[in-house]
Amino acid sequence: MGTFYVTTPIYYPNAEPHIGHAYTTIMADVIARWRRLCGDEVFFLTGTDEHGLKLQKTAEEKGLDPKTFVDRMAEVFKRYWRLLNISYDRFIRTTDEDHVETVKKALSKIYSRGLIYKGVYRGWYCTSCEAFYAPGEYIEEGGKKLCPTHRKPLELIEEETYFFKLSSFENYVKEQLSKDIVYPRFYAKEVLSKIERDGLRDISITRPKTRVYWGVEAPWDPNHTIYVWIDALLNYVSALGYDEDHERFNRFWNVVHHVIGKDILWFHTAVWFAVLAAIDLPPPRKVVVHAFITLKGLKIGKSAGNVVSIDYLVNRYGGADPVRYLLMRFSSLDKDVEFSVEQLDSAYNTELADIYGNLVRRVGVLAQKKLGGIVEATEIDRELEAKIRERVEKTRELLNAFKFSEALIMIFDVFREANAYLNKTEPWREEAPRRSLYNTLECVRIGTTLLQPFMPNTAERVAKALGFEIRSVEDLRMGAWSSYRVVEAPILFKKVRSGSAS
Ligand code: MSP
Repeated sequence: MGTFYVTTPIYYPNAEPHIGHAYTTIMADVIARWRRLCGDEVFFLTGTDEHGLKLQKTAEEKGLDPKTFVDRMAEVFKRYWRLLNISYDRFIRTTDEDHVETVKKALSKIYSRGLIYKGVYRGWYCTSCEAFYAPGEYIEEGGKKLCPTHRKPLELIEEETYFFKLSSFENYVKEQLSKDIVYPRFYAKEVLSKIERDGLRDISITRPKTRVYWGVEAPWDPNHTIYVWIDALLNYVSALGYDEDHERFNRFWNVVHHVIGKDILWFHTAVWFAVLAAIDLPPPRKVVVHAFITLKGLKIGKSAGNVVSIDYLVNRYGGADPVRYLLMRFSSLDKDVEFSVEQLDSAYNTELADIYGNLVRRVGVLAQKKLGGIVEATEIDRELEAKIRERVEKTRELLNAFKFSEALIMIFDVFREANAYLNKTEPWREEAPRRSLYNTLECVRIGTTLLQPFMPNTAERVAKALGFEIRSVEDLRMGAWSSYRVVEAPILFKKVRSGSAS
């Protein structure tokens, strides 16, 4: 048994979460649940990134003080994660006292090492990204400088600030990027080539309080607040009790996996690796990067105004589990995925309803009708067993490699095999088809166990209905469950009629 630490980005609570945020969060949840099934002690962290200019402005526009506003919004995020069955262990808020303490401690340490100096910064800023863009990074259109992500005009900012000597970590960062941390690998190469091209420049890490008052005060100068990104990144260490419980801290820090979207790769590599080194911490074990969900080619998001709501999907597919399944079924780390209700409808109907739903219903009905619901262990079909074993092995490899879509296809292959086996053995023709039904139930149990990280409620429901338990990966072999008590033959999924998104 090992330990495992998985994090999501902490989201800006300036608006409610949409399916883009749900996508990352579900991915991290699948990883957390999978590691738990493997027997690991898991710490799963998510939360909200509550400081900075964006939040300050949004709260002001709503006529609220920022704290009142973020208090409300943090609850909204929690409500959505409850709705989607996200099994986080801590929901961190950057306004939490222990986090603010960590930020101060960490920055005091960096300051005392002479890695922070005062200067003047002049640059083009995007408030939606909370980031500066240098020439070559922004888009020039009609005499205007636009943010490459949001395509909104950038603001010229010139102010007194403190800089972090990121440049002195250039070799270190490059060295870390050539290791096996960033996954998929090509994202590390993107960061490396940016560093090769532009060098690693020092970054501005404070804002004058007169402009951004909503932030953690710089420990060495009360007229400045800490830049929201530096504040935010440190959440990953404050959640473990930075500089407090060293034993627990190290145990989890050594196995930290950050799940992020590709938009925040630079901060989670170049900036984060250097900040960690500046406080004597090793880089994360893994940074798992995924691409975007797009609509007509544009990243779904509030700034682009093309949000697809979580409620819409949950209502359409009648619950969290199908949404979790569908988002992961079409997930991709390397390429953007275009959102398509037609595609989701079709996968819902043909995979969830036709393959899995039908299988569970058929085997349940037959077990009740032919064997009074009691199906004891009997001889294993060796040919079927070999096929299932191979698929289980492949699924485990795929899950360990964060290949969620491929893993789901493999799991559904288990169900396809089970359906084919039922058709071949024709238990409806027999008086007491114990062998056929036991073997089929074993396939259902194994597939359902593998599906549990994706569809926890459905897996639990199927286990209850058919009379088995989902315990651990140890049970992923035929013959591991000795006696089924089928109490129900549920209809798991009602088909949807295809139509366009509203
Ligand atoms: N607050 C920062 C993160 C700080 S982490 C130390 C931030 N927040 S955010 O609210 O903008 O969330 C960004 C993350 O949401 C992305 O990195 C990505 O994981 C997820 N996504 C938001 N929209 C998305 C899509 N359209 N598609 C895929 N993921 C998306 O950045």
